[in-house]
Amino acid sequence: MILCANPSAQFQSYQAEIEAAVLKVLRGSRYILGTEVEALEEEFARYIGTKAAIGVANGTDALELALRALDIGPGDEVITVSHTAVATVAAIEAAGATPVLVDVEPDFFTLQATQLQEVLTSRTRAVVAVHLYGQAADLDAISDFCSQNNLELIEDVSQAHGATWKGRRLGSIGRIACFSCYPTKNLGAIGDAGLITTNDPLLASKVRMAREYGWRERYVSESVGRNSRLDELQAAILRVKLRHLDSDNDKRRKIANRYDALLVCTPLLLPVYRQEASHVFHLYVVRVPRRQQLLEHLKVQGVHAGVHYPSPVHLQPGYKGRIRSATTMGVTERLASEVLSLPIYPELRSEQVELISDLICTFNPGGGDQRLSGNVANG
Ligand SMILES: Cc1ncc(COP(=O)(O)O)c(C=O)c1O
Repeated sequence: MILCANPSAQFQSYQAEIEAAVLKVLRGSRYILGTEVEALEEEFARYIGTKAAIGVANGTDALELALRALDIGPGDEVITVSHTAVATVAAIEAAGATPVLVDVEPDFFTLQATQLQEVLTSRTRAVVAVHLYGQAADLDAISDFCSQNNLELIEDVSQAHGATWKGRRLGSIGRIACFSCYPTKNLGAIGDAGLITTNDPLLASKVRMAREYGWRERYVSESVGRNSRLDELQAAILRVKLRHLDSDNDKRRKIANRYDALLVCTPLLLPVYRQEASHVFHLYVVRVPRRQQLLEHLKVQGVHAGVHYPSPVHLQPGYKGRIRSATTMGVTERLASEVLSLPIYPELRSEQVELISDLICTFNPGGGDQRLSGNVANG
C-alpha cells in the first residue's frame, strides 16, 4: 500500500535520533515549555531568518494568536482564500474577526491578488496569504496591496516549511507568520504542534504571553490569554526533524521532478512553478477530469491519492451563505472537483513513483480525450 503522506516512514528514517531525543525529555523534569521548546524556537527563528519564533499548540492556534497579537478581532475583516484548509478561515473567526474570501490564481492555486480591491472595505485589517501545497503565494502583489492600504500581511506557511520567495524563506516576509507542524507537514511533529515567526519583538512577546494565560511572570495575567503551549516531546522531535528539513525537501523535489517527467504525456494538468519561488512539495497536486475514477483505479492497486480540498470553505455546510466572498470564485469551485494529490513524501522510493505514474499512464476509462480545457478561470 502506498499512502499519500507517510509520517511513520519518516519516523523510521530518524528513529534512533527521535528515540534519543524523546528519552532525554522523559528522563528530564520539565514536560511543557522547557529547554527543548526554547532551543526549537531559537533554531527555527535562525532557519527562517526572523528575530523570533514562538512554539504553540497547533497551526490553527498560531493563526488565531497572531491575529490577536495584531489586535484584530470583532468588527475587523480579514481577507484570505477559500481554497485552503478550513483552519485558515476557522482561526479568523476564532479571533472574533470576519473572514472575507477571494478566488485563487488558475496556475498556482494561491490568492488572486487582483481581487483584493473588490473586497476591500473600511473594516479590512489584514490579508492572510496561504502558501499552498509547498509553493508561495504572490508575495510581491499581496505585499504591495497591503502597504498601499495599510493592512497587515500574515503568512500561513503551514504547507511550505523551508520554501522561499526571491531567496527569502517564507515566514520571514509578512509582519507575522504561522506554521502548522501536524504530522504530515514538511516539518511534522508526532502529534499537534505549531510555530509563529516574526521580526517584531512586541508581537513576539504578545504571542508568548497569550499562549499561557497572559503571563509574562508566572501567575500574573497581564492580559487575557489561554493555553496554547507546546510540549517538550513535540519540540524535541521537531528539533531532530528540522535538522533534516532541507534534505527532506530536496527528496520531495526529486520525486516531483520524476512525476513531471513521467506524467508529461498524460492528459493530467501538472503543477506550474513560479519563477520567483522555490517549491517544497508538501503535496504534488495535479488536475484531472473524472477524478473519482482515477482515485478508484489507483486505490484498487493499493495507491492512496488524496484530495486537497474536495469543497471550498465558502461552500461547506458550516460556512455556506454566511461568509462574504468575491463575486467570482470560479477557479476555486472548479479546483474542488479536479485536484488530486499524488503520494509524495521523502521516503517514497523511485520505483513506487514509477509504479504510480505507470498506473496513471495506462488509465483510460472510457477512451477518448480527457484533456482539460486550459483556462479554468472561464470555467
Ligand atoms: C494551510 C493550513 N493552515 C492551517 C492549518 C492548521 O493547522 P493545524 O491542523 O495544526 O491546526 C493547516 C493544517 O492542516 C493548513 O494546511
